Amino acid sequence: MAKERILVVDDEEDMLENCSRILDRLGYEPLLESDGGKGVVRFEQEHPMVTLTDLRMPGMDGLEVLRTIRRIDPDALVILFTAFATVETAVEAVKEGAFDYIPKPFSADQLQLVIERALTQRRLLEENRRLREQLTETYRFENIVGRSRPMAQVFDLIKKVAASEANILVVGESGTGKELIARCIHANSHRAARAFVPVDCASLPEHLLESELFGHERGAFTGAIATRRGLFEEANGGTSFLDEVGDIPLQLQAKLLRVLQERQVRRVGGNRFIDVDVRVISATHQNLAEMVQQGRFREDLYYRLNVISLPLPPLRDRPGDIPLLAYHFLRKYAAQSGKEIKGISPETLELLEAYPWAGNVRELQNVMERAVVLAEAEMINPVELPASLRLPQKAPAALVADHLSLKKAKRQWLEAFEREYLVALLKKHQGNISQAAKTAGVDRKTIHRLIKRYRIASA
Ligand SMILES: Nc1ncnc2c1ncn2[C@@H]1O[C@H](COP(=O)(O)OP(=O)(O)OP(=O)(O)O)[C@@H](O)[C@H]1O
Ligand SMILES: [Mg+2]
Repeated sequence: MAKERILVVDDEEDMLENCSRILDRLGYEPLLESDGGKGVVRFEQEHPMVTLTDLRMPGMDGLEVLRTIRRIDPDALVILFTAFATVETAVEAVKEGAFDYIPKPFSADQLQLVIERALTQRRLLEENRRLREQLTETYRFENIVGRSRPMAQVFDLIKKVAASEANILVVGESGTGKELIARCIHANSHRAARAFVPVDCASLPEHLLESELFGHERGAFTGAIATRRGLFEEANGGTSFLDEVGDIPLQLQAKLLRVLQERQVRRVGGNRFIDVDVRVISATHQNLAEMVQQGRFREDLYYRLNVISLPLPPLRDRPGDIPLLAYHFLRKYAAQSGKEIKGISPETLELLEAYPWAGNVRELQNVMERAVVLAEAEMINPVELPASLRLPQKAPAALVADHLSLKKAKRQWLEAFEREYLVALLKKHQGNISQAAKTAGVDRKTIHRLIKRYRIASA
C-alpha cells in the first residue's frame, strides 16, 4: 500500500529532521518544506493527507499557510506547532479551522497521536464525500454544480419535493439557476416522461400571454385565424414552468387562479372547459409577498403557487462554489472548442472569487466561455478575463446604467476601492499583516476583517 504523505513546514532545520525521522519510523512519507510559501505550493502539488506547520516563520507565517491551504481545499487538515508564546494564536487558528495544535517540544508519541486522529478524521470526511456523491448521482443532479452549504440545502429540498405534486415557487436573482432547478425537479418527478413547458410571463403583452397560456378559438380576436391549444393543454400530464410569474397582470392572475383551483382551462373566445392535469413550478426574482402587500399580486394565487418555496442563493453568498463552477464551465467549453486547457491559474481563480457576480452563475458562465475562446496557453490567465473583473472599480456611468441608487452606487464604488487598495497593500508587504496595518494606519483586526470580507488570499 502507498504510504500516506504528511507535509511538514518549519523554518528550523532541526525540527524538519526530527519530524522526518519520526514520520519515517511510523511508516509515513514525509514531505519537508522550510518556508510557508513553498509549503503551500507543495500542498497544491501533492495533496498530502495532513499538513503540519510552524506558526512563527519569516515570510508567510503558519496562520497564513493555514488560510491559504484551506482556500485550496476546505477539508484540508492542518496541525500547528506552537511554542509557549504562540499558544493564544494557535487557539485562534483552531477556531479558524485548524485541526489541532501541538506544543513544542513534543514527543514522538504525541506526534503520532495527533496524526492518527487527523487521519481518522480524513477517512470520515472522505466517506462522507463518497456518500454525498452517490446520493447526488442517484438523483441525477450532475448538471447542477455546487458543494456549498446553501446549495446542499437546495439539493435536499429538491429531493424532498420532486416526487410530490406540490406547486413550487423558485425564488432567486437573475442567473442563479431557477430554470435549471425547475427542469431538475420535473426530471426527478413522476411526470418526467411528459412535457416540461416553459412560459416567460415577462416577455409578452397581456392579450398574447393570455392566449399563450390558455389557447384561443378560431376568430377569438383579429389574427386568430386558427384554433390554438394553450401551454397548459400542452403541459397536460407534465409540468408547466411559469417564469417571471410576478409579471402576470392582475386580470390574468384571476384566470390563472381558476385554472389551478378547478384544474380546467377555457380557451380565449371559447366556452368549453378542458380538463388539464399539470403541476406548476413558477419562478421569480421579485418579492411576491411584498407585491401581495402592495396589492400587485393576488394573495390567493400566491398561496396556490407557493406551496413550497425554494430560494436560490446568489453566487456571492456561496463563494466556495465559484471554483467548482468555473472548472465545470471550463471543461464544457474546452470540450466544445476542442482546446486543450488544463486549468485556471490561481490568480485568475482569486479574481473570480472576489468578484461580486451581479449576474450570478450565468455571468460566470459567459466569462468562462469567453476565456476559453481567448485562451492561448494551457492555463486560463487573468488577461483572458473581462476588464471589469480585473479592475473591479466600475465607472460611475456604468453604475448609473445598472440602475443603482446613489447610496448603493457609492457603496459599491467604495467597496471596490477598498478591495483594490487591500490587494495592493498586502502585495506590497508580502502578506505581512502587521506591516500592512501600519501602512494603512489601522489595526491588525481591521485588516483581518477586510481580508475576510473581501475574501482575499492574504499571501
Ligand atoms: N448550479 C449550477 N450549476 C451549473 N450550471 C448552472 C448552475 N446554476 C445555473 N447554471 C447555468 O447558468 C445559466 C443560468 O441559469 P438559469 O437560466 O437556470 O437561471 P435563471 O435563474 O432562470 O436566470 P434568469 O432569471 O436570468 O432567467 C444556465 O446556463 C444554467 O445552466
Ligand atoms: Mg430563467
